[in-house]
Amino acid sequence: MLSQKTIDIIKSTVPVLEQHGVTITKTFYKNMFEKHPELLNYFNRANQARGRQQTALANTVYAAAAHIDNLQAIVPAVMQIAHKHRGLGILPEHYPIVGENLLGAIKEVLGDAATDDIINAWAEAYGVIADVFISVEEDLYKEAEKDGGWRLFKPFKVARKVKENDLVTSFYLVPEDGSKLPEFNPGQYITVRVTVTGDEYTSNRHYTLSQPSNNNEFRISVKREIDCDPNGVVSNYLHTDVNEGDLIDVSAPAGLFTLEENSNPVLFVSGGIGVTPLNTMLQTMEFGRQVAFVQAARNEKAVAFKEQIQKKLEQLNGSYFVKYSDTEGYITKEDLAPYIKENTEVYICGPAPFMETVISIARDLGVPGDNIHFEFFGPAMSLEAL
Ligand code: HEM
Repeated sequence: MLSQKTIDIIKSTVPVLEQHGVTITKTFYKNMFEKHPELLNYFNRANQARGRQQTALANTVYAAAAHIDNLQAIVPAVMQIAHKHRGLGILPEHYPIVGENLLGAIKEVLGDAATDDIINAWAEAYGVIADVFISVEEDLYKEAEKDGGWRLFKPFKVARKVKENDLVTSFYLVPEDGSKLPEFNPGQYITVRVTVTGDEYTSNRHYTLSQPSNNNEFRISVKREIDCDPNGVVSNYLHTDVNEGDLIDVSAPAGLFTLEENSNPVLFVSGGIGVTPLNTMLQTMEFGRQVAFVQAARNEKAVAFKEQIQKKLEQLNGSYFVKYSDTEGYITKEDLAPYIKENTEVYICGPAPFMETVISIARDLGVPGDNIHFEFFGPAMSLEAL
């Protein structure tokens, strides 16, 4: 239990740390990777280069600290991050390293303002927050190991590589040891760990499972990033250097963005490669539930899974609307309005600006927050849900 004095110190210093957020987190990562270069095997260096993950981790520590007297309240929000951590193989022994370097950075940046009382209070608070993550993650590791699953990474063979369009290629992956695969929920992802040619560290990326669960193989559909996005290092490597018969390391399915099973009408709205989890969800649906799919893509060459979606929607008697942004512009309120019925559940996935627009359109159309489900691609910037 934290003392009231510690809680008061934490609550009064959260705004100060937030104010110095970027400087503290830059210092934190710089120091941590200098002392523990092995952690570069876990962090996405493309996100690091753009400062994205830098903000996510520290902001979340501050957001959690603001709720330090009622940490139970943050467990739902922690879950999503814990799924990613579990997929990446983050372990209890990593937490003290992050804590030590985060505190060190706070001290370094705040200088004399960081009194012993403040530093001790934050050390205590970090310990409590880390324990919440560690315990939630241990439960997820146990869950992952159940029913033919596994704890960390396991080698998978690329059984087939199938081009979906100019940019997207599907990889069919089977366990090298020939074992059966555990069931997963549509919308979940796996984490792929590879060593890109010439790199001294491993790179990890999360990819949605792009076909419904079966006991034999996973399928991921990877978009090749061509516009100099540093994130493209792994997608390009997969497209060009990983061939049928090659092995890659894969962790067990994770993630909370899945189709809720009820009888409410469903509207899927995808932007670009955000179509992957939504198509998997669609493919598992059965006749009887109302469904519509709105798919945004740059142009006809970039649109993925169109025939598959169309075919499934015909079976389900659903509606399909495709919009090409190059020639027809972005999704509007008028585009979505016809598909919003009473109790419609909207599932949205795509790049961040697309998501923001579609979420706000759904709200404008009167869809209650609980019926809007979404997943950002890339790291969540902070725990806004807290
Ligand atoms: C991702 C928070 C501890 C490694 C994240 C994300 C958040 C976060 C918010 C982004 C999730 C997303 O992508 O949606 C935290 C908090 C921690 C903590 C609050 C401590 C209480 C750790 C530790 C490690 C770690 C101990 C390992 C040394 C990572 C990695 C990612 C990640 C590798 C993936 C993102 C990337 O590589 O860009 N964490 N984390 N985290 N975290 Fe943590």
